Amino acid sequence: MTTNTAARRILPMNRNWLFGGPSRPGAMNANFDDSGFTKVTLPHANAVLPWHSFDESAYTFVSIYRRHFRLPETLRGMRIFADFEGAMTATKAALNGQPLGEYLGGYTPFSFELTPHLNWTGDNVLAAEVDSTERPDIPPFGGNIDFLTFGGIYREVSLRAVPPSHIADVFVQTFDCLSRPRLEVLCSIVPDGRGGTLRVELRRRGETLCAATRAYDPDASEIAVGLDDIQGVELWSPDKPVLYDLVCRLMPDGAPEDEYETRFGFREARFTPDGFMLNGAPLKIRGLNRHQTYPYTSGAMPRRVQRRDAQILKHELKVNLVRTSHYPQSRHFLDACDELGLLVLEEIPGWQHIGDGPWQDIAVRNVEEMIRRDRNRPSVVLWGVRINESQDSHDFYLRTNEAARRLDPTRQTGGIRYIYDSERLEDVFTMNDFDFPLRPPNHPLYLNTEFNGHMFSTKRFDQVERVAEHVLRHARVHNQLASDARYAGGIGWCAFDYNTHANFGSGDRICHHGVSDIFRIPKAAAGFYRSQCDPAEEVVLEPGFHWSSGDRSGAAGLGIVPVCSNCERLEYFIGGEKRGEALPSKDYGYLRHPPFLIDLGNLPLSPWGDLRIDGYIGGKKVISRTLSGRGVDARLAVEPDDLLLDGDGVDMTRVVLRVTDEFGNTRPFATGAISLAIDGPGEIVGENPFALAGGAGAVWIRAAFGAGAVTLVARHPYLGEQRVSLRVAAAAGEDI
Ligand code: GAL
Repeated sequence: MTTNTAARRILPMNRNWLFGGPSRPGAMNANFDDSGFTKVTLPHANAVLPWHSFDESAYTFVSIYRRHFRLPETLRGMRIFADFEGAMTATKAALNGQPLGEYLGGYTPFSFELTPHLNWTGDNVLAAEVDSTERPDIPPFGGNIDFLTFGGIYREVSLRAVPPSHIADVFVQTFDCLSRPRLEVLCSIVPDGRGGTLRVELRRRGETLCAATRAYDPDASEIAVGLDDIQGVELWSPDKPVLYDLVCRLMPDGAPEDEYETRFGFREARFTPDGFMLNGAPLKIRGLNRHQTYPYTSGAMPRRVQRRDAQILKHELKVNLVRTSHYPQSRHFLDACDELGLLVLEEIPGWQHIGDGPWQDIAVRNVEEMIRRDRNRPSVVLWGVRINESQDSHDFYLRTNEAARRLDPTRQTGGIRYIYDSERLEDVFTMNDFDFPLRPPNHPLYLNTEFNGHMFSTKRFDQVERVAEHVLRHARVHNQLASDARYAGGIGWCAFDYNTHANFGSGDRICHHGVSDIFRIPKAAAGFYRSQCDPAEEVVLEPGFHWSSGDRSGAAGLGIVPVCSNCERLEYFIGGEKRGEALPSKDYGYLRHPPFLIDLGNLPLSPWGDLRIDGYIGGKKVISRTLSGRGVDARLAVEPDDLLLDGDGVDMTRVVLRVTDEFGNTRPFATGAISLAIDGPGEIVGENPFALAGGAGAVWIRAAFGAGAVTLVARHPYLGEQRVSLRVAAAAGEDI
């Protein structure tokens, strides 16, 4: 995270882009005709899509974007760059008709220098032609991939104005965090033939804790400065993610000319033969994989929505690690991981296929770009430097590992594979093992990076036996991982359902592999993850089934079904009559909070009624859940994630739509087309009317420019109307 300082200016440039749809000959030339272009704000998707069952031809095209701007006189004499955080998948840029170059890659940041072609007295036009086809010369393409990449300038853009001699990059390396914490700061600079001094300051919450200054030669391009013996350091951890700032000030000829700020944390993270150790203590990894894509707007989601995924993973799914499968993800998502204390395994773009020499060069470059971008993040504990699930490729992977170790000697490497006896050039053997029981660790440092997924694709509204088995499959794997310290842990496939190609998934362009659906609405299996937290954090009791007497194959009643809870004992009642008690299942005895298996038997159809489950800790009833036995769609629930949005034309929040029973439980087979009406400075992103799938779904509300109250009215065909109000607050304008 870099912020504005006295000298350098970072000028966000997300508003007032012009989007021309498919590009055409001459669109990048100097004679700009903007007719037919529409005004858009970044992040932007080149196509808004249905949430399922669409064809990739809807977004696989080359599109044209333009941005007009004028530069303030105050920036004259500085070098000006356009920094793109991510555009899918190849971007050619031109300024005032002068070509700036082409960048190949959809998940990594890139910059074009604008300085030589700038018009300082009038209008400038930055044009970008974004190729969102699946070009086989660029990772992850060239073979089949089980996800969609989508298109457009889907992350933010800014202008960066820096003095001729400036700081290019800062790497903050922490050492001896558990004994005598010290820093070694590696500062890359662009020299201009003058020597000077570099000052580094360690800060927390704006207060300087210590500082050091170092002289550098006229031709120096990398300056190392140490900060030793730092007193009173607080470590970064999942429970207390303490962050520090490091400020570097470049002073050629002794006068301050550039300043660069970056955020980091002190922590020691190592994979060892006894598992993963964080700050010297073992931490069993309980993680989930995340794809960055969403319904309707694909990858083009703003800061708030990106951060929300990290919050869901940390607070709703209670995992301690996320893998950014299969590419570097949004800085906003990763910022939230740093702030929330969610560990990250980050990897380069790719899926099973390895391309030719130039393709491999891009992949090696991706390693470098990913590491340079994210190596100061305390959340990142492992770099994935192989193409996910590819064959061995000795020379190629020597290169990716060398790049990772050169750019970041402080972290270990992994390389995600599915071939058990494949060559390990990485530090940690990171294995997608979809078998059960899992294979034993065959290397001293061993992490399971995927399990379940396609082996048991499950929808929220599947038949009850499948839903229950989905829960137990996740529980079984984590139980085995917990049984043996040599497993560092496991990262389930996956957190959220995702759109995919026709030759994967359930035939509807979705892999229903998530423990939550594509809208991030939890399935029953999410309850297993949630229940693994300490009851002091949250008492959890999540039924791993839906309440019915005849949805099972063969017999009436539900038989034995799981309940995920961190309670010590459960009691359960049907129609007010006690039917039994249960203790955590001994079959899952390695887990901190094994699921309970409650016997709902082969129910006679009478007595019948509501199912109530009470949870006890220390002999005290601490939670109670009731599932209605009436079989009636009782209510429409309309649940926005946020009630306050920024009026910047791009901020968004999810609104979950659910039909529930009278106790608030989602009715998994409820239907109904919900018509939506919005009033005020906001728009609906999603389908309207929205047809519920499995009793629930979601749309997003995007704030317009401006301020005011937004009211969303949702009407269900027979459950009536619900309205929610949000506020949009005026957002600061852009500098450019
Ligand atoms: C893995 C792959 C993932 C996903 C998963 C489905 O083989 O790495 O991307 O396709 O299977 O279970």
